[in-house]
Order: sequence, then C-alpha cells, then structure tokens
Amino acid sequence: MAAPLLLDLLCCLTVFWLLLLPSHSADPDPLQDFCVANLSASVSLNGFPCKPASEVTSDDFFFDGFTKEGNTTNPFGSFLRPANVLTFPALNTLGIAMNRVDIAPGGINPPHSHPRASEAGVVIQGKLLVGFVTTNNVFYSKVLTAGQMFVVPRGLVHFQLNVGDGNALAYTAFNSHLPGAAVLPLNLFASSIPNDVLTKTFQVDADIIDTIKSKFKS
Ligand code: GLV
Ligand code: MN
Repeated sequence: MAAPLLLDLLCCLTVFWLLLLPSHSADPDPLQDFCVANLSASVSLNGFPCKPASEVTSDDFFFDGFTKEGNTTNPFGSFLRPANVLTFPALNTLGIAMNRVDIAPGGINPPHSHPRASEAGVVIQGKLLVGFVTTNNVFYSKVLTAGQMFVVPRGLVHFQLNVGDGNALAYTAFNSHLPGAAVLPLNLFASSIPNDVLTKTFQVDADIIDTIKSKFKS
C-alpha cells in the first residue's frame, strides 16, 4: 500500500477511535476540583459555566432536599425528588446525581428510562418490585426489601412498584449530573404526538387513546 494511503487510513482509524471513546463513558471527567453551576448563565455544550470560586461557600456543597417525605397523593402514588445539577448545582461536571423515591402502597414509579446514565438504587424501607426490560424485550425483576440494591443499565426502561403494605422509600444514584428521564406514559400520552401515530402504534381505536390521554391531562 502506498505510504500516503496508509497514512490516510491511520488518520481515519484514529479519528474513528476517538469518536467512539465518549460513547463508552458517562459524563466527562472534571478538569477542576469543583465547578458549582451558575444556573443563571446560558447552558453550555456540556454542563453549566462555573460560579466564581470567590462566591462559593460551604452551603453550595450540601443539599437538604432529601429530608422530607415526598407527597405521593397523585395518580401514580409516587414522588421523586431529584438531586441533580439543576437542584444541587455543586454536582455540575461531577458526573453524579441522586433521587429520593417515595412510593405509597400500590403506587408505582412508572416505566421510564434515563438517556444519559445507568442507575443504582437501594431500598431503605418497604417492599418494591423492581424491574427493567432489555432492548430484546427480556424482562428482569425482583422484589426487594430494606438494604437490598438494584442496578438498571443506561437507557433501559424500568419501574418500581410498591408491593408492600406500607410506604416505600428508596434512594437512587446515577453516573450523570443530569441523567434525564423519559417517562413512557407521559412521553406518549401527555405530549403532542398525533393520535394517528398512537392508534397505529398500539393498534387500537381513537377512543382508547382519548381515554388514556384524559388520564394525563393536567
Ligand atoms: C428510579 O427509577 C429513579 O429514576 O429514581
Ligand atoms: Mn429510574
């Protein structure tokens, strides 16, 4: 092979390899000790600009949003309180976030997925059926009680259902400062996806779609 051609090939392979690298990782590694988010600045490509270090105080690194039980009086019977870069700006660029998850008896944290993070969770109180589905539609699930953990690989659809007699509490952790959540029932039935798309997708009549949509009208 001619030398210039070989060089071109090497360059292409190197670029291809470099492009692949980020897809194997979560949020990028920080380049500084901390970068408390300046939430009033416009969002940059990956995270927020840092608040000037001279304005950072101890309070920036503490979050008391998990001290109160979430109000589960809603159709799903669950409440998620997120500690992510938007609610706890010190998480900016650190590649981590958490949720407090309260679920009333019979309540559900409905099927959803996190586009930017895997999830690990620990049950603190109660009895939860925890499950996820792979992209091949294989379903994995288990009933967990206090002290037991679960993991959900990035992007897979998952849920938690309270199958106990009392309130359930769990904490979840993510390898992203803003994991995002695509909540399936809301994505599909509380968005402006045309009804035609939904009737064809689910192979049902329009009145069934209307009934489901009416459940999610605020
Ligand atoms: C649970 O699935 C959570 O996203 O906190
Ligand atoms: Mn989740």
